[in-house]
Amino acid sequence: MRSYTLKNKNIEVTFIERGGQIISIKVPDVKGNIDDVVVGYDSMDEILAGDGYFGALCGRYANRIVEGKFEIDGEKFQLDCNNETNHLHGGNDGFNSRIWAVAPLTSDKFVQAYQLSLTSEDGDQKYPGKLDVSVIYGITEDNQFVIEYEAETTKSTVINLTSHAYFNLGGAGKASAENHKLQLNASNYTPISAELGTVSGEIAPVAGTPFDFTSPKEVKVACDTDHEQINMINGIDHNFVIDGSDGSVKLVGVLADPKSGRKMEVYTDQPGIQIYTGAHFDGSETGKNGAPIEACAGIAMETQIFPDSPNHDHYPNAILKPGEKYKHVCIYKFC
Ligand code: GAL
Repeated sequence: MRSYTLKNKNIEVTFIERGGQIISIKVPDVKGNIDDVVVGYDSMDEILAGDGYFGALCGRYANRIVEGKFEIDGEKFQLDCNNETNHLHGGNDGFNSRIWAVAPLTSDKFVQAYQLSLTSEDGDQKYPGKLDVSVIYGITEDNQFVIEYEAETTKSTVINLTSHAYFNLGGAGKASAENHKLQLNASNYTPISAELGTVSGEIAPVAGTPFDFTSPKEVKVACDTDHEQINMINGIDHNFVIDGSDGSVKLVGVLADPKSGRKMEVYTDQPGIQIYTGAHFDGSETGKNGAPIEACAGIAMETQIFPDSPNHDHYPNAILKPGEKYKHVCIYKFC
């Protein structure tokens, strides 16, 4: 398994060709101590045998599509359901499990960059159209880790790509991320339905709910509330609706660890961000630093279109047509 490292004078990002999986991001704290801030494993054997979504590129449709069903121009499609009754992260053989072609890229924007490419054939996981995908991982002088996605299709299809790192700014495997403070420029979120196992189709205000992160708040404070949306999945596994999303790249959220002083800003042009506190981690797996991976070991901040968008006309468009270009920028900036 080939691995690649991007670095500037402060931070270092390492990924592998399978799934473009980010296996470490080393960042100094305020005192200059370096820690690895993404949840994962200590050895390559464990990485390859472990959770294949950790730090990975997810697609063709990241997140859930109810019963794997959608329609384009009256034509019905049925994807495999790999997550109870739903389709999740592109199916059993999603982009996270593919070997991507990786090549160094020279660009004025980046101190160092790589381009990852993948062709998903017509009918791959039962999606229509041959999809050519390019993802650039770049690192800038001012500590931005930039992910730029592009894709083109030969037939109308649905697409939603994302990156699935769980961040722990105190150092993965050192302590829980539950005391991290999260702030999101999101006045609304998409509540989930227990019956559907994903979004109900609603868009609801966060005001007066544990999902109000419009000012910085400890993740634990939200997860400890007795709110039916929190109880349903033992934490946060919700899509937030970015305020004023207009296709330009803007600051959408900030994650901060008061203890180490590390802070990460998230910028995107996408209309949504899935926040996942890792409720399904039960300590049965050993991760970095030899520590069990427990709920809230890290927090995923996945920029994306909303879950199940293809089945909700009032959700953002997830259909890509021939001749169009899917574009998505996600920036994790370490401050
Ligand atoms: C997240 C999703 C979670 C879980 C996880 C993969 O994106 O919101 O529900 O499926 O991926 O383990």
